Amino acid sequence: MPERSIRNIVSQKEICPGHYQMVIDAPEIAAEAEMGQFLHLKWAAETNSDPLLRRPISFNEIDREHGQLIIVYRVIGRGTKLLSTLEAGDKIDLMGPLGTGFSIPEEKNNFLVVGGGMGIAPLLDLVENLLVADKEVTVLLGAEKKEQLLNLEQYQELNVNLKTATMDGSSGYQGFVTDLLADLTAIEYVYTCGPEVMMATVQEWAQENEIAGQASLEERMGCGTGACLSCVCKIKVETESGWEYQKTCTTGPIFALNEVIFDE
Ligand SMILES: Cc1cc2nc3c(=O)[nH]c(=O)nc-3n(C[C@H](O)[C@H](O)[C@H](O)COP(=O)(O)OP(=O)(O)OC[C@H]3O[C@@H](n4cnc5c(N)ncnc54)[C@H](O)[C@@H]3O)c2cc1C
Ligand code: FES
Repeated sequence: MPERSIRNIVSQKEICPGHYQMVIDAPEIAAEAEMGQFLHLKWAAETNSDPLLRRPISFNEIDREHGQLIIVYRVIGRGTKLLSTLEAGDKIDLMGPLGTGFSIPEEKNNFLVVGGGMGIAPLLDLVENLLVADKEVTVLLGAEKKEQLLNLEQYQELNVNLKTATMDGSSGYQGFVTDLLADLTAIEYVYTCGPEVMMATVQEWAQENEIAGQASLEERMGCGTGACLSCVCKIKVETESGWEYQKTCTTGPIFALNEVIFDE
């Protein structure tokens, strides 16, 4: 059972309307966490059970040097609204690191990272690690409008081939980020996180081009520890039916891209 702990919030700021960045002091977690894993958060004091369930949020960056965890999230409903009211010095109740992390195949050199909407959040740490491993990286980021392209300034400072797409044309190509896939050549491996329809298109493109990869799924979660089955997703396996349900919280959230069934 992953450990639960109460941690100090170092800072919290609104980075664009409805989107927040929180920095949490947690040296032991920062030391062991892997890119792509997530925290299961509860922002109330120990005696407060509103809301009852924790909320899963991925690491945006793991700052091992300062022992801090950085998360970026969008306010969706009650849980994230409450989370956004916390300030530096407040406490947060968390479990983690949870789930599986991204892995980097050593033998590949030319990587593609495709993020859409809030799915951009877990990818920054991955891209930084790809660069540390001396890989060539192309990053495609998509959102409704420029201000929702999370971490855009940080990506612009990195040595990556960066392309953006927005639906209103305020940054880069006007339209779906997946339209940019058609221009790519020499990619050997792909990572993606974002809306299912986007990841399904990336999967189709990867299969057509015989490129392997990984997808980070964001299913609705309850316990976060494998006990409640509320987070299951369909994964291809070699059985008669050809697929089975797997738990996103423990077997995922990172899955082999070609094994995910995005059909609902
Ligand atoms: C592994 C993982 C990593 C995630 N990382 C991020 C991130 O880095 N940044 C970010 O903004 N969001 C992330 N999400 C989505 C985030 O967990 C939801 O937006 C959040 O739980 C919504 O809670 P709420 O109370 O504000 O909304 P409500 O809609 O009121 O939530 C009601 C219930 O549905 C669940 N729920 C609702 N939407 C989602 C969702 N998309 N995914 C999972 N559970 C959901 C909640 O946990 C809660 O139990 C992640 C989800 C998963 C599974
Ligand atoms: S969230 Fe309970 S089993 Fe995954």
